[in-house]
Amino acid sequence: MTAYDIIDAKKRGMALSEEQIRFFVRGIADGSVSDVQIAAFCMAVLLRGMTDGECFVLTDAMTRSGEVAPRPNFTGICADKHSTGGVSDSTTLVLVPVLCALGVRCAKYSGRGLGHTGGTLDKLESFKGFNVNLSAEQFERQVEKIGGAVAGQTNSTVPADKRMYAVRDVTATVDSIPLIASSVMSKKLASFADVILLDVKYGDGAFMHSPADAEKLARLMVSIGRKAGRKMCAAVTCMDSPLGDSIGCNAEVREAVAVLKGKKNDLAKLSLFHCEKLASLALGISEAEARARAEESIASGAALKKLAEIVEAQGGDVRAVYDESLLPLAKHCEVIRAPGSGRLKISALALGKACCALGGGRQKEGDEIDHSVAILLKRRAGDPVQEGETVAEVYYNKREEDALASARGAFEIVQTYEPQPLVYSYIGEED
Ligand code: URA
Repeated sequence: MTAYDIIDAKKRGMALSEEQIRFFVRGIADGSVSDVQIAAFCMAVLLRGMTDGECFVLTDAMTRSGEVAPRPNFTGICADKHSTGGVSDSTTLVLVPVLCALGVRCAKYSGRGLGHTGGTLDKLESFKGFNVNLSAEQFERQVEKIGGAVAGQTNSTVPADKRMYAVRDVTATVDSIPLIASSVMSKKLASFADVILLDVKYGDGAFMHSPADAEKLARLMVSIGRKAGRKMCAAVTCMDSPLGDSIGCNAEVREAVAVLKGKKNDLAKLSLFHCEKLASLALGISEAEARARAEESIASGAALKKLAEIVEAQGGDVRAVYDESLLPLAKHCEVIRAPGSGRLKISALALGKACCALGGGRQKEGDEIDHSVAILLKRRAGDPVQEGETVAEVYYNKREEDALASARGAFEIVQTYEPQPLVYSYIGEED
């Protein structure tokens, strides 16, 4: 068997055998398959697809390419949530403390910003000193002791995905349903969460452009997780315009803290939706009861206290939870005004790109992030606006004309606006 023959078979649209898939993934992990071969394989999969059976084997082989964390023997259900990536989506920063306050353990492995999308680990590093690099033992101990931890997976977890993702990122092969499903689920299955909620985005700012494709991806990932013995659910949600009102690390942390203090907006709505589903599944209570408890954890301040506990446990400056001046915005501000009168349309993609280009995200792996870069929305998509009124503020330290033009271009005036539901569909435990 050779990597060449496997690529050739997939190029011709043939279904690969379990043996072929495991051979290829072993080659990715041990270096005997080259980057060029990985690229050709990924393009063949993108163009020819995979059966659900092939995708399940690919996921399993990738999961086993590195260390797999065994389920620790502490009591209580462990929950995890994974989003396929969005703009101004800080639900993790709200959901983890709320669930912990309800007694649901959160073993949350997160990622860094990818392309125009923000990453939870970058946002958590807005708390000066926050350590996202926990060892498997530290991670497990913290989940046991205080109920939750949020960290990056170690280098020894799913090494096949690390190589494959880096190749996909530069060969236009990210947006393939079987490749995304195996990449996401291999990382979820290498961890020990019992209950997993997947937030699969569609729209302008997401990898999947149509809700139908997002739902197909969600169903495939749910079936992979269930086959591996996990309790799974998934929400298909819209990412045409930013979820919250803030983009950029410090600004998004400020906003998540505000939601934990009672602010009500779309970020709060979606975070509570996820909490309701996960708490209901983990605690075996009705969704109405789960929602009431989640809301109470915010009203009583218990969730905010949990955030402070997690920040402190991971070495972050806990004072920033209570004092937003410790999460500063950049020194220059440019106001964006409505280019006409009518309904406002806002592109998540254009704003995500603008934030990155101003230094708020990475242009390439390893770039330093400016946590103070921010875009604050003053109006929401669908709002009626008058020409010249302020729709957003852009905070930056280093002026980049192209980035500012991209930010301005994100706001369009339309005469009729078709509102999208926040949650397009939900795949529950029984579905
Ligand atoms: N997130 C991942 O982890 N992998 C993908 O392929 C896409 C999004």
